[in-house]
Amino acid sequence: MTIPHILKFSTLSWLLLSSLGTTWFEVVHAQPSPKVQKRINAAIKAVTPNTTNIDYTQFVNVFIGTDNFGDVCPGASVPFGMVKFSTDLTGYAPAGYVTDPTQKIRGLSPLHDSGTGSSLGTYGNFEIMPSLCPRGFNTCNTTLATRERFRKNNTDDASPGYFAQTLDNEILMEATSTRRAGLERFTFPKGSKPYFVLDLANDLPNSFAGGTMDIDPEKGRITIGGLWGSSFGPGSLNYQAFACYDLLDGGKQILDEFGVWTGSTSANFSIKGLGETHLNLTRSLIGDHYEAGALFSFSGKSRVVNIRVGVSFVSTDQACQNAETEVGDATFEDIVAQSKALWNEKLSKIEIDVPNTPRNITELLYSSLYRASLTPNNATGETQGVFAGTPHPYFDSLYCSWDTFRTYYPLMALHSPVEFAQIVDSYLDGWRKLGWMPECRANNLPGWTQGGSSGDNIVGHFAVNYHNEAAELGIDLEELYSALLADGELNPPEWNVMGREVNVYKQYGYVPFSVLETSSTGRQTREGSRTLEYAFEDFAIRQIAQLLNKTDDVATFTNRSLSYRNVWDPTVTSDGFKGFAQKRFPNGTFAFTDPVDCSPNDKHGDTRECSLQGDNVVGFYESSSWEYSWFAPHDTAHLIQLMGGNNTFVKRLDHFFKAGYYLAGNEPSFQTPIGYHYANRPSHSIDRVRQIVFNNFDVSPAGLPGNDDQAAMATLVVFHLLGLYPVPSTTQFLVLSPFTPKYTIHNSFLNVSTTVTAKNFDARSVKKNIPEGVAAYVNSVTINGNKTESRCHFDFFDTFKVGANIVIELVPDGESVDSCAGSLPESLSTGGWAAAR
Ligand SMILES: *[C@@H]1O[C@H](CO)[C@@H](O)[C@H](O)[C@H]1NC(C)=O
Ligand SMILES: *[C@@H]1O[C@H](CO)[C@@H](O)[C@H](O)[C@H]1NC(C)=O
Ligand SMILES: *[C@@H]1O[C@H](CO)[C@@H](O)[C@H](O)[C@H]1NC(C)=O
Ligand SMILES: *[C@@H]1O[C@H](CO)[C@@H](O)[C@H](O)[C@H]1NC(C)=O
Ligand SMILES: *[C@@H]1O[C@H](CO)[C@@H](O)[C@H](O)[C@H]1NC(C)=O
Ligand SMILES: *[C@@H]1O[C@H](CO)[C@@H](O)[C@H](O)[C@H]1NC(C)=O
Ligand SMILES: *[C@@H]1O[C@H](CO)[C@@H](O)[C@H](O)[C@H]1NC(C)=O
Ligand SMILES: *[C@@H]1O[C@H](CO)[C@@H](O)[C@H](O)[C@H]1NC(C)=O
Ligand SMILES: *[C@@H]1O[C@H](CO)[C@@H](O)[C@H](O)[C@H]1NC(C)=O
Ligand SMILES: *[C@@H]1O[C@H](CO)[C@@H](O)[C@H](O)[C@H]1NC(C)=O
Ligand SMILES: *[C@@H]1O[C@H](CO)[C@@H](O)[C@H](O)[C@H]1NC(C)=O
Ligand SMILES: *[C@@H]1O[C@H](CO)[C@@H](O)[C@H](O)[C@H]1NC(C)=O
Repeated sequence: MTIPHILKFSTLSWLLLSSLGTTWFEVVHAQPSPKVQKRINAAIKAVTPNTTNIDYTQFVNVFIGTDNFGDVCPGASVPFGMVKFSTDLTGYAPAGYVTDPTQKIRGLSPLHDSGTGSSLGTYGNFEIMPSLCPRGFNTCNTTLATRERFRKNNTDDASPGYFAQTLDNEILMEATSTRRAGLERFTFPKGSKPYFVLDLANDLPNSFAGGTMDIDPEKGRITIGGLWGSSFGPGSLNYQAFACYDLLDGGKQILDEFGVWTGSTSANFSIKGLGETHLNLTRSLIGDHYEAGALFSFSGKSRVVNIRVGVSFVSTDQACQNAETEVGDATFEDIVAQSKALWNEKLSKIEIDVPNTPRNITELLYSSLYRASLTPNNATGETQGVFAGTPHPYFDSLYCSWDTFRTYYPLMALHSPVEFAQIVDSYLDGWRKLGWMPECRANNLPGWTQGGSSGDNIVGHFAVNYHNEAAELGIDLEELYSALLADGELNPPEWNVMGREVNVYKQYGYVPFSVLETSSTGRQTREGSRTLEYAFEDFAIRQIAQLLNKTDDVATFTNRSLSYRNVWDPTVTSDGFKGFAQKRFPNGTFAFTDPVDCSPNDKHGDTRECSLQGDNVVGFYESSSWEYSWFAPHDTAHLIQLMGGNNTFVKRLDHFFKAGYYLAGNEPSFQTPIGYHYANRPSHSIDRVRQIVFNNFDVSPAGLPGNDDQAAMATLVVFHLLGLYPVPSTTQFLVLSPFTPKYTIHNSFLNVSTTVTAKNFDARSVKKNIPEGVAAYVNSVTINGNKTESRCHFDFFDTFKVGANIVIELVPDGESVDSCAGSLPESLSTGGWAAAR
């Protein structure tokens, strides 16, 4: 079985695994160095109630998600860094690094994304590989296949702002970074001469489309520039990238031999040009994987070589400038310390009661918070194509909005409105420059659309939570609304890459399958899930129309947000449950697909296409109908009616989890475990969330249920640990049971802090199954001493927006408190969201 050329996201990891059996992917779990976990344990243990100025970076395990297809990049990065220094490994390694010790290291490189689903990999340009070459320049191995080496097993080390790996020939490689630059430090074994291969052409997805390399031996500077391709978008498009390597460490190092090489792994040759300084290669139209780069060595006795690297998406000059301004002559230790300080600023936005929290919960929480600020990549001032020179912020690796609107941005909204506003402005800039907001921008290129224009729920969430501060944060709400209307009303020429197939959606009230499209292009697949997502995107538009008093639009988009009902086929049954979402023909007839198809229980899971493939015929994206039929977060009350009432709904939820239809690693399922709240059974949600966390997340490299999806998983687990769940495009939080006795969330822009105390918290409840007699179920919620009207939910405007003391009182008997004792969470059909807050 080959990995499909259409790249995989979340659930496909599972599909691949199940189809491959276990042999090929059986991974030896031997990395990183055991000292990483020891160091973290010791740091957490050392915290006492008296500890001040906690260094939160010590609790972060950057290796979580670097195995089991987590696709996390453990490389050295600052928050939202454009540079993430990591090694690139052979085999399946989309983010560069993987723990699997049977894979070899290709080199160390500055550009990576974290938590991507791309199976080809993303970035990995400008690899440098240190080498021993005992028989001299002309005998050095330069091409990928010959220079790759194993690591020295169980020595990988990394922490926020620092990355290190040792090759099996004892060369230690270390890196640290700023936003667009960084330092590399190589320590060679005693008595060896330091050689380096610097790669012009290779990147992880093997997408080179031409470029140049120049060596300036006087300056000791090598510049590279070229074109490469997307990791999750049209292969016909290219992006430009540039690098600047300074080799002399401010004059402390002496360059010896230098030159260029070209070669080919398939033709098995590599030829060197000693003293040559220039390479200029175009795209190989015959499709060959042509390789080329520089080769150089140092003279002198020093075993340590320091190399400064700058990157840019604008020019080689700018790449060199970035290295000069961001690193200058700072030492490796300076940059590590600077990076750590930036990370502490982010991590300390949520402070927990460390001494009274189970240790691996502390590690899981801070490691997840770390990834929650690792992406998207801040490429402000590094723009190209239609974005060249934009005065607005620019973020790359929005990968994808379908993944991040549910938990990633709602978490950011709690504590970082300034950063959130910058990213919102970048989404709006997509609309300004291209006509629609980006859905899956990566590598500075448009990526494939998944559920439609999920960016609507991202900018929508910002607006409902921060409309009073929007202007101060640089966001014009009327402009934001225009961008929303473009997504909701204008059919793009090709809705594969942005916008939605909104012409036929408006005409039919659902996205019909097999419909005549005379003037717009896109794959006619996933009509069931696209309708469900389009409806929720319309809800985002409705929310902003309400905010801006656009009464007619409120009616229109409220109505359109109920379109999820139009793909509901009440006659379909599965496992005794009746009524499922289905795709539908233009004439109104439903196109039946078995609700089990594309679920983990699909008997043909090894052959069925469930992602973006043209022959995905089930009507759903990376999900089954069993899974997607729960998706109407704005109107769950009506969904309960469609499913036959509260009791059937609860039975159906229980069956969904018990029968194994649930996929923790799949975004459409994020809110499903808390569905019990809407049927007035909140204790059931608490039990379910405990099981989900312990069945799917831990602090090992394999500790994620599939890929991190740009920290969608990280932020989901953060909300689970905090005992909260956000409803996107609203200000409502669903209340669950915290895994920590006390936490404070700081919002420095609003200048407020909110403390949540779990009264009667018992660490013994932090288990997959809450033991009998141990307090864990919510009896009451008080805000500043006042009991809330319902124990199932509260509002951002009454809490985190103004600063509050929240007490969640826990009791042992779940049955006795298994109701909201007040209003249910809001739904449109029961009068929810009647007015903007
Ligand atoms: C914390 O500080 C208090 C008062 O300064 C002291 O009495 C107590 O022993 C300290 N506790 C620990 C664990 O260091
Ligand atoms: C590291 O471990 C892997 C898997 O056991 C093995 O294939 C490889 O040879 C080892 N590398 C070294 C340098 O021992
Ligand atoms: C160069 O590559 C060849 C073929 O892979 C290998 O046999 C040889 O040991 C390598 N030489 C060095 C110095 O690593
Ligand atoms: C590649 O060439 C080298 C040197 O000429 C030779 O030793 C090696 O066997 C060749 N490898 C392959 C795979 O043909
Ligand atoms: C590279 O070569 C092309 C022609 O193949 C030429 O147009 C271009 O100017 C050259 N670029 C550089 C930087 O030398
Ligand atoms: C992104 O980079 C720009 C330019 O340095 C900076 O002003 C901005 O604060 C950064 N934003 C984030 C979220 O890091
Ligand atoms: C919308 O109407 C409400 C109530 O009349 C008013 O308070 C609010 O300022 C209006 N908002 C806008 C954006 O006009
Ligand atoms: C939505 O509007 C359509 C057409 O105007 C109408 O037929 C339908 O009843 C409305 N749906 C709801 C739920 O109001
Ligand atoms: C609707 O169209 C589908 C697909 O062409 C067809 O199979 C079905 O019979 C049609 N239904 C009706 C009622 O004509
Ligand atoms: C479900 O239960 C809630 C609260 O008890 C009630 O308000 C609602 O009407 C019930 N829904 C249905 C469809 O029976
Ligand atoms: C935390 O550690 C305990 C005991 O080793 C283990 O049972 C539990 O699964 C771990 N939890 C997480 C989230 O890693
Ligand atoms: C508590 O509720 C009372 C009565 O509704 C209200 O007057 C008071 O302001 C509230 N106190 C706080 C701290 O919110």
